[in-house]
Amino acid sequence: MLAKVTSCAVVGLEGALVEVEVDVANGQPSFSVVGLPDAAVQEARERVRSAIRNSGAMFPYNKRVVVNLAPADLRKEGPAYDLPIALGVLMASGQVASETNGALVVGELSLDGSVRHTNGILPMVSVARQRGLGQAYVPQPDAAEAALVDRLQVFPVTTLASLADHFNGVAALSTYQIKLPPKSLEIDYPVDMADVKGQEHVKRALEVASAGSHNVLQVGPPGSGKTLLARAVPSILPQMSIEEALEVTKIYSVSGLLSTDTPLIQQRPYRSPHHTISHAGLVGGGRWPRPGEISLAHRGVLFLDELPEFGKRVLEVLRQPLEDKVVTISRASGTLTFPANFILISAMNPCPCGYYGDALRPCTCSPNMVSRYHQRISGPLLDRMDIYVQVPRVEYEKLSDERRGEPSAAIRERVQAARERQARRFRGQRLLTNGEMGPAEVRDYCQVDEAGHALLRSAMRQLNLSARGYHRVLKLARTIADLAGQERISVAHLAEAIQYRPRALQL
Ligand SMILES: Nc1ncnc2c1ncn2[C@@H]1O[C@H](COP(=O)(O)OP(=O)(O)O)[C@@H](O)[C@H]1O
Ligand SMILES: [Mg+2]
Repeated sequence: MLAKVTSCAVVGLEGALVEVEVDVANGQPSFSVVGLPDAAVQEARERVRSAIRNSGAMFPYNKRVVVNLAPADLRKEGPAYDLPIALGVLMASGQVASETNGALVVGELSLDGSVRHTNGILPMVSVARQRGLGQAYVPQPDAAEAALVDRLQVFPVTTLASLADHFNGVAALSTYQIKLPPKSLEIDYPVDMADVKGQEHVKRALEVASAGSHNVLQVGPPGSGKTLLARAVPSILPQMSIEEALEVTKIYSVSGLLSTDTPLIQQRPYRSPHHTISHAGLVGGGRWPRPGEISLAHRGVLFLDELPEFGKRVLEVLRQPLEDKVVTISRASGTLTFPANFILISAMNPCPCGYYGDALRPCTCSPNMVSRYHQRISGPLLDRMDIYVQVPRVEYEKLSDERRGEPSAAIRERVQAARERQARRFRGQRLLTNGEMGPAEVRDYCQVDEAGHALLRSAMRQLNLSARGYHRVLKLARTIADLAGQERISVAHLAEAIQYRPRALQL
């Protein structure tokens, strides 16, 4: 007898429906899985056999059991096919009577027949919904995640036996009742800008960066608050739209990082990988590509502390995603892209000992050591930093000051307003923020008057600006004008933008 169950693969962040066909026939007793399955899918045979036996059903040991996963040219990986294969075996061996009527069935099985949490549920149910499927049978822990997609009936499944009972009409499973998160959810961020004393010019720089999605390099001695300031950035970014939240949730879903009690990620990500991170860990990859830190930071903040400690090669691979806002991973069977639209906040000490230029503590490095340290961040990468800001140590008086600074919520409102101006300007185009403008948009939206041109001319000479650096100044000035609620870029806006350019080191 032949049975068919609809399941799903995940390629990158996208689901792709897979037909699981199970044929149980007379012949040499065997159990095989065909259709480009990887090792984990091959292992499904062991789990399926045990799960069926431990669910009070019979595995057809004396038959020839063939499982075909179609389409055959799509690589199948992971344990999500356990449940549809087991159900198909029960159907094809006459132990489950009814059809699934094209419902999506996904889930990993334990040997005892219970259904376990499975990665990538959101991309799977999204494609099922797009393709017009009406029902999804998913692991019980993942039901809330599946219910993020509307107009799809979600059935949480705890055991193979309960799924069999459901299709046999013995005991119907109940559908998951959606508990929508409250609309204006106040998100609790770990660090508020009000917690940071002093450093007003750094906060201003981070506000500009947040408003226009610009990259930042902070330079300052240890303990000056660079990490603290970076950690506060998500709290001044506008709340994510539902589309953004779903996008971020998909990334965490396929990475297996989604916690079952927070099915929808509404808080902007903050990722701070250590400088010993591998290439694949940072940009994504592996034999079966997984999103890297830059994709986990999508729509949020990627913080690279001790920037010069990251290997040169790792820094080089960041260049393309910084421009394109996506990362392309090549593998034998073609290329794959993951979104990677984040604000890069980086930090470094001014020199190896950390105290070069510090007011109190003397620097113990030779001039040669200091300049070699700076050369570790390549010219092209430094060129992609829009904002370069010095973070000096805060004096004791300021640190011990009890008064709280401006809270993040107030800054966030200005950032939000500036982003709305940008959204209106870019309506109908694919970009959202000034940081994403290409040369054509810079030409259209960053016009300056005669006085502005004069200032830019002298800055280009003095700062030795590259063409890219020149564009960066214009984009930054655009954001500064947007924060001020002004359509025209003035000399004052340009002047602030110019002072964020990296300075040549004075030795
Ligand atoms: N401006 C500041 N306001 C409040 N606390 C600060 C400030 N600067 C430093 N600190 C305190 O010092 C600690 C170290 O700061 P940190 O951000 O790790 O410095 P850095 O990253 O520059 O080495 C912080 O956890 C915080 O408690
Ligand atoms: Mg630090």
